[in-house]
Amino acid sequence: MNWDETGPDTDERLDERLVQADADGEDTAVEAALRPKDLDEFVGQEKVREQLDLVLKAARARGATADHVLLSGAPGLGKTTLSMIIAAEMGAPIRITSGPAIQHAGDLAAILSSLQEGEVLFLDEIHRMSRPAEEMLYMAMEDFRVDVIVGKGPGATAIPLELPPFTLVGATTRAGLLPPPLRDRFGFTGHMEFYAPTELERVIHRSARLLDVEIDVDGAAEIAGRSRGTPRIANRLLRRVRDYAQVKADGRIDRPVAAAALGVYEVDARGLDRLDRAVLGALLKLFGGGPVGLSTLAVAVGEERETVEEVAEPFLVREGLLARTPRGRVATPAAWVHLGLVPPQHGGKGQQGLFGA
Ligand SMILES: Nc1ncnc2c1ncn2[C@@H]1O[C@H](COP(=O)(O)OP(=O)(O)O)[C@@H](O)[C@H]1O
Ligand SMILES: [Mg+2]
Repeated sequence: MNWDETGPDTDERLDERLVQADADGEDTAVEAALRPKDLDEFVGQEKVREQLDLVLKAARARGATADHVLLSGAPGLGKTTLSMIIAAEMGAPIRITSGPAIQHAGDLAAILSSLQEGEVLFLDEIHRMSRPAEEMLYMAMEDFRVDVIVGKGPGATAIPLELPPFTLVGATTRAGLLPPPLRDRFGFTGHMEFYAPTELERVIHRSARLLDVEIDVDGAAEIAGRSRGTPRIANRLLRRVRDYAQVKADGRIDRPVAAAALGVYEVDARGLDRLDRAVLGALLKLFGGGPVGLSTLAVAVGEERETVEEVAEPFLVREGLLARTPRGRVATPAAWVHLGLVPPQHGGKGQQGLFGA
């Protein structure tokens, strides 16, 4: 495990845990190498791509700096990639930072005042910025100006500082957490959806080409089906399957090779990994299917609340295996089936009551 605890990208760090076995050092380098470089190469997200294409083309035609862009969506869907594409399409440099990295308004002032004209400022996890920094950002986004406070106490004075026009690209996994005044200052909001299996197959074929791995249609489909709608996971699984194919087969990836490899890495046929099954297993075996509180469930699997809530649950909910109810987390009948367990038969209420058996 070499998660960089000082790294700015908590979403990606949480996301690392999706494939435990994959925490090797070359990870980020390979990921960067697989990033599409322009909008045409970017697979799927038709709506966001079309809208963004218009925003960028129009700005270019006017010779202007593009409007501020907010990208929202789950980890690994391509927010960082799109921010780089925006800069590339505008022929602009890009500066990358994140909400948690900006502790004080002064940190933000230093970044803003050193931007070049037209530069793209990528602010990852923008929902985790401090309040004072956020307020400074409002003025910077709207008027391209910041007030730098000099001195302390009653003698403090605000010195206005003009900024060159720039494009803020904010990324968030939780658009709902953004204060409305901040949300309203973005000229365009792109919501990234989970990818369809056929789109993930395209991502996998593209990555296989770049990695120089031979893969057939069924092999790609097998990996796509276990990738939870997420390109980052598709790319990770592809690399693990490649390892297996090189060691245990002739290097070529077909369906049996992909299935066997993913079995070794404990990614099941529906894409559940060790953590997902641990959460579901605890819910079923220790708490009879629930309802149980999130904190209790997290302690039971030895993970942070946040990890269970943000990494495992969204996928389990999406798959119809777990429900969040006012009384706590509850397993659905499909969860029992998926883990091959039989629900306890204590007549009356329990799950049957909630799901009408
Ligand atoms: N639409 C896409 N087409 C091809 N590859 C993609 C796409 N979206 C994401 N990826 C790949 O998935 C990985 C994660 O994408 P990233 O932009 O870092 O996601 P996020 O910032 O939303 O967490 C990158 O390596 C990138 O190559
Ligand atoms: Mg990112």
